[in-house]
Amino acid sequence: MCGIVGYVGARAATPVLLEGLHRLEYRGYDSAGLAVVHRGRLRLTKAAVRVDELRELVEPDQPGTVGIAHTRWATHGEPTDANAHPHVDTAKRIAVVHNGIIENADLLRAKLTAKGVDFASETDTEALAHLVASALEEGAPSLEEAVRATLRGVNGAYGLVVLDTHNPGQLVVARNGSPIVLGLGDGEMFVASDVAALVRYTHRVVYLDDGELATISPDGFVTSTLQARRTAKTPTTVDLEDSDYQLGEYANFMHKEIREQPEAVRRTLAGRLDERFGTARLGGLNLDPRAMRGIRRVKFIGCGSAYYAGQIGANLVEEWARLPADAEPASELRYRNPVVEEDTLYVAVSQSGETADTLAAVQELCRKGGRVIGAVNSVGSAIARACGSGVFLHAGPEVSVASTKAYTNMVVCFAMLALSLGRVRDLSVSDGARIVEALQSLPDHITAVLSGENTISEVAKEHSNAERMFFVGRVRGWPVAREGAQKLKEISYVHAEAYQAGELKHGPLALIDPAMPSVVVVPDDELLAKNIATIEQIKARGGPVIAVTNAELPEGLADSLIRVPRGEPELDPILFTVPLQLFAYHLARHLGRDIDKPRNLAKSVTVE
Ligand code: F6R
Repeated sequence: MCGIVGYVGARAATPVLLEGLHRLEYRGYDSAGLAVVHRGRLRLTKAAVRVDELRELVEPDQPGTVGIAHTRWATHGEPTDANAHPHVDTAKRIAVVHNGIIENADLLRAKLTAKGVDFASETDTEALAHLVASALEEGAPSLEEAVRATLRGVNGAYGLVVLDTHNPGQLVVARNGSPIVLGLGDGEMFVASDVAALVRYTHRVVYLDDGELATISPDGFVTSTLQARRTAKTPTTVDLEDSDYQLGEYANFMHKEIREQPEAVRRTLAGRLDERFGTARLGGLNLDPRAMRGIRRVKFIGCGSAYYAGQIGANLVEEWARLPADAEPASELRYRNPVVEEDTLYVAVSQSGETADTLAAVQELCRKGGRVIGAVNSVGSAIARACGSGVFLHAGPEVSVASTKAYTNMVVCFAMLALSLGRVRDLSVSDGARIVEALQSLPDHITAVLSGENTISEVAKEHSNAERMFFVGRVRGWPVAREGAQKLKEISYVHAEAYQAGELKHGPLALIDPAMPSVVVVPDDELLAKNIATIEQIKARGGPVIAVTNAELPEGLADSLIRVPRGEPELDPILFTVPLQLFAYHLARHLGRDIDKPRNLAKSVTVE
């Protein structure tokens, strides 16, 4: 959420900053801006525009070899030119870019206003620029000390970079709850909120921890705590290429990421399945069979789509390992007083690994002695580090705001987790082998779903005038319906509501009419007859039905059909979600929506 880039070195900073912003725009696109220093003067360009338009506003060859930049997802203050980052102090000596929320911003603002400071924006960030400037005026010996003194008086979450026109050979960076990663170059240093902005220039990175500051200069970096204690950091190498963030032949990232799913699933399965013993081996869990047998309950926690993926994971654990399991939104768990049991395995689920609510839930569980593992896509992310052990999703970078391939890989990883838990309990070797085979067939089955894309696009077009839709599923189909509704609402802005099939008759049927299509998830399993009965109830009230199915349904039962190949029924939730991703995608395309940058949203929700 929001993107930060900074550069100090020998090159012209502006192109590096613009390129970095371009890579980070999926993190927030309400406004964009950059500041560079040349001959002690700040050149500031910022506006409530997308990065491409910012490019037009900036002098292409403006000089200056140090600078900072930002792309914003609005929290404090509307998306206006004035509220765009960087923010500066009155004398335009200090410039700041910031992700996160300063909780005591009102108090800081009131104190500064009382001292005669005029604010140019409504943001919480601007106070930081004024505070750093006044700390320097009051004699702070260095920019780092001025930032440290400022942050000691700040409550809240931040990832920030500070530039001082009087010290143009360095930037000061700090992190508390919002990601910051340093990129190590040769005679130059980079900083960003996400490695996506760095991999074009360097693969050697250092992740800052909460409560850490760094001063970066062309010669390197020095890290310390808020209490001015030096810290030692070991650089790591990121296994990502700039090409991983490029669209290639695709019109947008959501489409690219949907189409990449067979490959992404292959990657996450690679080396983890054991055909002989009909099980999966997830080395990163650090759980031997004895520890696995000691687990009495499994709880998945995540937000949004990650939570729905967790719901499927819980169903699989119950089915195969016969252990009680459930999923809960991390945003709820963190504010409850959950009963934390020693023999429960908590699984924190996150694509970005930075979602603030999920991270806070992990911290709360750890504080109370819970055993937490991560199911995370982004290596080096805060949640991955906080959990210490877990399973990486290996989906590759997910740029589109709407999660697709990471979601699918979450469920595939949970299937492997459930299988391995099942195999140290009641699950037979033959059932294990059946599941292993089904997992190995998944990429091909997904490819088969993708080959039906044109039909799905037609169905989506037929229903693109609908202003509201139901998504209906039962048991295995219920999280599928939730994820289908989620995908549709976030990128098309059509009101979509998910319901358990059996619950429709307890109230929501009142909403059914010819203008309210229902997308019904109908797997060919033991509940087929029940789901057919649900469709009949909808039809009897004049509601159009789009059936997503691998069953032979009675002729004329559904108005539109989306076909899914047959696999093992337990894995149906994976196969049935893919056509719903395509349905949402094509419907949003027919409506002319900005697929990768839906309104009001941004990737990686690092605010509460
Ligand atoms: C929906 C979507 C969000 C995320 C949620 C959690 O398409 O992308 O609902 O799933 O914000 O994000 P992560 O997985 O990064 O923790």
